Amino acid sequence: MLTQAENEYLCRIGPGTPMGSLLRRFWLPALISTELPEADGSPVRLKLMGEQLVAFRDTTGRVGVIQNNCPHRGASLFFGRNEEAGIRCVYHGWKFTTEGTCVDMPNEPAESDFKAKVNAVAYATEEAGGVIWVYMGPTEKRPPLPRPEWTLVPPEQRIVTRYIQENNWVQGLEGGIDSSHVSFLHSTVASHRGDFKGSSTNLFALDKAPEFRVVETDFGLLIGARRRVSNTEDYWRVTPYSLPFYTVIPQVPGSGRYYAGHGWVPIDDENLSMVTYSWHPTRPMSEFGPTAGHPAHHVRKSADPLRPLQSRSNDYLIDRQSQKTVSYTGIENGSIQDRAIQETMGPIYDRTQEHLGSADAAIIMMRRLLMRLARQLEEGQEPFAAAHGEIMTLRSAGFMSRPDASFVEESEPLVRGDR
Ligand code: FES
Ligand SMILES: [Fe+2]
Repeated sequence: MLTQAENEYLCRIGPGTPMGSLLRRFWLPALISTELPEADGSPVRLKLMGEQLVAFRDTTGRVGVIQNNCPHRGASLFFGRNEEAGIRCVYHGWKFTTEGTCVDMPNEPAESDFKAKVNAVAYATEEAGGVIWVYMGPTEKRPPLPRPEWTLVPPEQRIVTRYIQENNWVQGLEGGIDSSHVSFLHSTVASHRGDFKGSSTNLFALDKAPEFRVVETDFGLLIGARRRVSNTEDYWRVTPYSLPFYTVIPQVPGSGRYYAGHGWVPIDDENLSMVTYSWHPTRPMSEFGPTAGHPAHHVRKSADPLRPLQSRSNDYLIDRQSQKTVSYTGIENGSIQDRAIQETMGPIYDRTQEHLGSADAAIIMMRRLLMRLARQLEEGQEPFAAAHGEIMTLRSAGFMSRPDASFVEESEPLVRGDR
């Protein structure tokens, strides 16, 4: 449980907030590159970290992310003309480059130097891994891009998508590092009746009360959940939580399949953009069939490309008959199951009301870590991880081990990629 003040400190990320300042030290995966498919194409609205922005790809292919409201008198630059290496406001014709420089002010006298005095707020952008990254912190602190493995493999070896979710980013992240919910939320009715056949559901169902080991590292947390599956073997699911909001989901032992994970990117205090990445280090994702990768890539579509059909307004199309006989939730698609729970907790859950148990160890440590780093930054100490994107090349791990094995010794090489 947190006090009300701690809850606010942890969750709120608008300009000037301590947590907002911490997150602004990191590059943020803001858009999928295909959302801006062509030079001089349509600009898109982008809300990020509580700020209303507009993104556009200029004539040279560079992506600009600048303030939505034109610096002249506030017209939305979303309606702007994207042409000749800049975006031109349609109200009075002022034109801005991707750097926010005002290069034309056609309603002012030609001899005026007013345009040299006006800039739009513009954030640095880079493209990597099929994603447009945005850096919103102080220019002099701008680090190199982080290097998660999914951004380093060839495009055919990865799938990246994003969907908007209507709740605070911490709620999403908490779901991502909560290994014990898997034995319930994503399980089947049969597994709870003791009918264990195939798949990992089997291993999750054999021990529904995993024992947690959580270790702080340079990248964030190494989170291990141990399930006892026999007297001689434990099943470990190891999730790396890397700062500020990334996870990689553990694999089924010996499956040789792809990796997948999420980033929970704050749109504002009450909405997030869930970026989902699936990748294989050596093989094209197409080898795994039409439903390859995380189920989040395969949600049912709605008219809005950033919002799935299953939503709060239709109770995520819960099927009560299925809930009795087939699926633990009666909600189709594992990713929608997570969304249903996270959104319906309310936009920012009142954490003074919760009762945390031993299965919530990782959640407790993640909150403490984020709040400590935000406090340290308030005192002038920069977050190490933000400037060391190379330590984000992480994988998850799922493996069987002897009961007396050391969690850190067995899992850290697998997660860090010393393989
Ligand atoms: S409001 Fe944009 S040019 Fe006037
Ligand atoms: Fe989940």
